[in-house]
Formats: sequence, structure tokens, C-alpha cells
Amino acid sequence: MTTPAPDQSPADSALAPPPGCPAHGLGLGADSLGAGGLRRLYGPEAEADPMGLYEKLRAEHGAVAPVLVQGDLPAWLILGHRENLDVARTPSRFSRDSRRWHAMQEGKLGVDHPLAPIAGWQPLCNFADGEEHERLRGAVTESLARFDRRGIRRYVTRFANQLVDGFAEDGRAELVTQFAEHLPMLVMTQLLGMPEEYGPRLVTAARDMIKGTETALASNDYVVAALRQLVDRKRATPGPDFASWLISHPAELADDEVMEHLRLVLIAAFETTSNLIANAVRMILTDRRFRAHLTGGHMTLPDALEQVLWDEPPFTTILGRWATGDTELAGHQIRTGDMLLLGLAAGNVDPAIRPDPTEPVLGNRSHLAFGGGPHECPGQDVGRAIADTGIDILLTRLPDLRLAVPEHELRWTSSLMSRHLVELPVEFTPRRPKRPDEETRATTVSTPVPEPVQAPAAVAAEPVQVQVPQRRRSFLDWLLRRR
Ligand code: HEM
Repeated sequence: MTTPAPDQSPADSALAPPPGCPAHGLGLGADSLGAGGLRRLYGPEAEADPMGLYEKLRAEHGAVAPVLVQGDLPAWLILGHRENLDVARTPSRFSRDSRRWHAMQEGKLGVDHPLAPIAGWQPLCNFADGEEHERLRGAVTESLARFDRRGIRRYVTRFANQLVDGFAEDGRAELVTQFAEHLPMLVMTQLLGMPEEYGPRLVTAARDMIKGTETALASNDYVVAALRQLVDRKRATPGPDFASWLISHPAELADDEVMEHLRLVLIAAFETTSNLIANAVRMILTDRRFRAHLTGGHMTLPDALEQVLWDEPPFTTILGRWATGDTELAGHQIRTGDMLLLGLAAGNVDPAIRPDPTEPVLGNRSHLAFGGGPHECPGQDVGRAIADTGIDILLTRLPDLRLAVPEHELRWTSSLMSRHLVELPVEFTPRRPKRPDEETRATTVSTPVPEPVQAPAAVAAEPVQVQVPQRRRSFLDWLLRRR
């Protein structure tokens, strides 16, 4: 089958399925069907239950399904595990360059189209193929590789303790905003070489940008201005940080390329890692079987994270790949310029590789959460280190951590590419924050603070207290207490 043009069968658009159509009884109303009777990957029904929608598509079409994305533009969603890897690993057939998209060439993606910010081509490694991709990505991966893992974990330990100190005395906290979103950004600002005072403001700005609120543009301007200032400072005074290493990399990136790749790394790391932390803590707090595997010693915390990466990958789909020529995939005819979405969450539960998705994966890392092929996430070890060390500290500092609301009251928001917990309210026995003469010793990090960047109104500055722990109890202690 070929992707139907969006204007094909206009009479079918938004109509209920005709009598006898297999779409009956699938629980989807007319809102979910668009041009050509294709299912929409957006809208209230799709966003309420994306996994349910993927299974309907799999039942109807197999490993690859024709779908509609925002504006009823046609695309292909890859549902099979093997097919996702085939597409990701064959850049000669499936390019990363969105300028190949026929919808783009036909002018269907105006500046105010909801997908324009993520699909609009930019001179970044995640839109590049071949030699240009190698040049830009090489600079990113080789600069990331210069961090030693213990150094990264030291930052995570320091900031995780500091965040827990912020709410330890209250006996309750909301872990999405007070922990999961802050930790990756605080760590990333350190890795990038930014003064940590930027961390909290960047969390607010980045969150605002991604959510596309009215202040999104102002927040983007704030992030760009802060990063531009960083590039200027690091060119003048390099340090042992990602920004300086990117600037001095033999690929000789121009200042704009450096700034844009710093922004890419910041956003790529923030959204995904905070999602992983929130999903993993929720699973540990709510899923008895999951916890039993941990307490029984069948699963370590890093193994538990892999299980979460299988079951709730931070990106549910990746947009996208574009066909370089007419080709065939899982029995479907793909045309030049068609868009394909990597269905990471769907591929992870493909019955061909996981006949029983409730069976634990026990540390198996062959999930699709980090994509695959030449664009596979280069920051995965950093993301794992932040999540693993951060959760370990949270649970060992608050040994009786528990959910403060019934599990069914937890709410989620979904978009085309991800699904987020809105809030994770928890309670615990109030504890004093750590003092320098107890387990941790406070140290002030004297990173020089640059001239302030004008922050948008939505971005509030918060002072950051920094503490470096001297020793900590283990994650195992927390688990044993839970028995
Ligand atoms: C748990 C956390 C993370 C997850 C689940 C994740 C997932 C992903 C995925 C699915 C892709 C797209 C791969 C593809 O197109 O095939 C990607 C790309 C990327 N990620 Fe991550 N990521 C995470 C953390 C990070 C971190 C911490 C960094 C930086 C330190 C980072 C930097 C990047 C970059 C630069 C790309 C673009 C690579 C390219 O196009 O060549 N990510 N990530």
C-alpha cells in the first residue's frame, strides 16, 4: 500500500467507519480517523492511550502502518522491532534530512504548523547524513567521551543531595518538578561549563520551550542568549568542559554550530532523562512485582532502568526518517519523500521479540529507547548515570518514600513523541537536611558568574545551594527497609 495523499477521498475525512469496516469496535471515534480513513497519531484519543493505538495499528497493518500526523499529513509509523532497526540503520534509504519530505517541499509545513519546530530542517547533527553528520556528531561524541564517569556521578550526587535537602523537612514533595526535571538540567549545566546558578532558570525556560506556551519564544531566546554568552566566555577562557571541548574540536565548528549543538544536547538530555527518572521512581513505588525483583536481588537498579527503557521509553516515537527513493518495507510501498516515524515504544513491545511483555527483561539492553544506527543517542551513558545515581540517592535519603495519592490519580500528558507524568506526589518521614558536620560537607563551587542574561518573565531565578556528600548509604538499604 502507498501513503494516501492527504486530499485523497475527502469525503472519508473525519467520518465514522462504514458498516463492516474493521475499525468498528476498536474503540476509536470519528475524531481518530482522518483522510483515507487513516488513524490519526494526534488528538485527544490518540494522546489518551498511545500504546492502545499502536496495538490497533499493528493488528490492522502489521509491522508498518500508514498514519496521519498533525494537519492530517500522511506518514508511516514503524511498529516492528526489526523494522525500526532496519530503517534506523539504513541511512542510504531512509535519510535524516527533513527537506526531503514532500509535505515540506509542497509548502504544507508553514511556520505555525505544530510540527515545524521539530521537523523544520536545521544545520544540526540530528538532521544531517553522511560526512556532514560524521563531522558534527564526531565533535559531540568525542567531546562527551572526555568526561570520566566518576566525575559525572560526583555532580549527580551533589545535586541530588541538594534537591532532596530542599524538601526533606516537609515530609512531602512533588518529584516531577522538584526532582526529576531539575537534576538532569543541573548536571548538564555543569558538564557544559555553565555557572550552576543557570540550572533552575534553564529548567523553567526549557520546559516552557518544549511545551510551546505563549512565552516559548522568549524562553528560547533566553536559552540561546545564555549559550551564546557561554561560547564567548569559553573561547576567551577555555575550561575542562563540553563547551570548551566542542570549540577546540578538530572539526572546527563555527560559533553558531557550537551554540546550536550545546542547545541540542541540553534539550535532548533534559526532557528524556527527567522522563526516565520520573517513570522509574513511579514504577518502583507502585509496581510490587518490579520491586520484588529488586528486593529479591534478581534486578539491580541499572537493570531496573533498562526495564523502564523497554516499557516506557522517554521518546515514544522519533520524527523522523525520509525515504530517499521508492522502496518496499514490510510489504508496503514507500514513496520518495515519505516520512517514517520510528515507533520506539511500539517496537519495544513487538510480540515478535517479546511474546510476553510482562516477563522481566533482566538487564537486556536491546530496546529501542536510544534509537539506532548512525544517529543512536550519543548521550545514553550520561542519561543512565544521572538517572541511576540520582534515584539511588533519593531512595537512600528517604527510606520510607511512598506515593501520596492513589496510583489511579496519577495523570499523564502525551504528544507525538513522548508521554510524561504530570506529577508524582510522594510523602515520607520528615528529615533534617544534611549538615556539613553530618554525612555531607557543603562546598561552594566558585564558578565565575557571567553578566546576567535577560530572563523572560516566566523564568524565575532561584539560588542554588551546593553540597558535596562524603558518604552515602546504599540503594540496597532502601530496598531492605521496604520489605
Ligand atoms: C535517558 C535519556 C535519553 C534518552 C532515552 C535519549 C534518546 C534519544 C533518541 C531516541 C535519539 C534519536 C536517535 C535516532 O534518531 O535514532 C537521541 C538522539 C540524541 N541524543 Fe539522546 N537520549 C537521552 C539522553 C541524552 C543525553 C544525556 C544527551 C547528551 C549528553 C543526549 C544527546 C543526544 C544527541 C546529541 C542526539 C542526536 C544524535 C544524532 O542525531 O546523531 N541524549 N537520544
